[in-house]
Amino acid sequence: MDMNQNNIEEIVRQVLSSMSGTPAPANAPVASAPAAGGSIPKTAHVAMLTALQHYDVKEFPIPEVGDDDILVRVEGTGICGTDQHEFKKDPFGLIPVALGHEGTGEIVKIGKNVKVDSAGKPVKVGDKIVTCMMFKDDPDITMFDLNKKNVGAADVYGLIPDDETHLNGWFSDYIFIKGSRGSTFFNVSDMDLKSRIIIEPAAVLVHAVERAKTTGILRFNSRVVVQGVGPIGLLCVAVLRTMGIDNITTVDGNDSRLEFSKKMGATKTVNFMNYKGIDNLANAVAETFDGHLADFAFQCTGSPVAHSNIYHFIRNGGGLCELGFFINNGDATINPHFDLCSKEINLVGSWVYTLRDYVTTFSFLKRAKAIGLPVTDLITDAFPLDKINEAHEFALAQKGFKIAVTNVPLDGNTNNH
Ligand SMILES: NC(=O)c1ccc[n+]([C@@H]2O[C@H](COP(=O)([O-])OP(=O)(O)OC[C@H]3O[C@@H](n4cnc5c(N)ncnc54)[C@H](O)[C@@H]3O)[C@@H](O)[C@H]2O)c1
Repeated sequence: MDMNQNNIEEIVRQVLSSMSGTPAPANAPVASAPAAGGSIPKTAHVAMLTALQHYDVKEFPIPEVGDDDILVRVEGTGICGTDQHEFKKDPFGLIPVALGHEGTGEIVKIGKNVKVDSAGKPVKVGDKIVTCMMFKDDPDITMFDLNKKNVGAADVYGLIPDDETHLNGWFSDYIFIKGSRGSTFFNVSDMDLKSRIIIEPAAVLVHAVERAKTTGILRFNSRVVVQGVGPIGLLCVAVLRTMGIDNITTVDGNDSRLEFSKKMGATKTVNFMNYKGIDNLANAVAETFDGHLADFAFQCTGSPVAHSNIYHFIRNGGGLCELGFFINNGDATINPHFDLCSKEINLVGSWVYTLRDYVTTFSFLKRAKAIGLPVTDLITDAFPLDKINEAHEFALAQKGFKIAVTNVPLDGNTNNH
């Protein structure tokens, strides 16, 4: 078979299509009219991070939607730890940049060549979509290269600057998806708005658990520690609970987060602030498992000290998934003999997700909802676009769990500011 780019894309489309259970239609409908209920403005509002700890909401022209492009009216976007890191320190040197990658919205205009999403599901005006950071070229590849800023700049929505349109971050009211650049996007119209906002961070945990499973240690009756229960650790608990693991201890210093982790499926909690010294802390963790150490642990903080600590919670021959260091937060000290070698720890790292994990995440969120896990309650607070600086300060102060920037109010328990 001639493996040219078109063939590869077709194969990927078929694989993803079979995973999402939606057959790719031979002649899917084409739509090109604006959505009912509002005309398309000439300009869009985009929150650009223009300096450390400062966004400006700027206005840019909305380009003509070409045959392969999509224009989306943004509904809402979660603030990710990465957005926070960028806001505080700009570690990737991206300023000025349009951020926001945990976004979702409604298609208001679509090019005539765009008939299906990246999984082969039909798309039309009015459908609700999310983008994915992964490219089409290989569904199993994790992550793009952040250093390749000039390669497919606009492919990675909300992280890599796009000097052409500036409409490529979800902290905005319109986002422009340039189809010719290999962007991946999914039609998730069958999910509620808050679930759609949670898709991207949840995919991180679907991937981490897939990585953990490669050790062969995770089983139904495994004793599992999740260290750090910010949004990432809380979603980790929910993914584990959804796959049937129900002996989970969470470790954090924040009581309200620990309490919420029980609603997500944790059985016991340990507040590390109550224990002096690693031996006392390890004993407290073991007590939650009737005196046993954990079979497996997930490290979900960006703290080097937490990385050093976690080996003490794991039994000989157990496993560890380290996923807390999306960025470089410094070195951690371990004793290679005591912590790793003589204990025969099975260590895996996990970074972002693959395209396949993204599709699996849609099923995870539906399953979590079906078994009553309050995953969407993670979004405690929503701020309008013009309060985006306030939203980031609020998130940095750990005042809520997951903070969103939205153009429509969120329902349920979310506090709309
Ligand atoms: N692997 C990936 O692809 C990926 C993707 C997204 C985020 N992350 C990383 O995951 C980490 C967690 O993300 P988040 O949004 O939940 O962050 P967060 O800051 O909201 O939560 C971290 C939690 O860890 C707790 N914590 C800090 N030190 C601790 C310690 N010594 N022991 C126990 N708990 C401790 C904090 O109290 C907090 O509740 C971040 O560092 C982020 O960069 C990784």
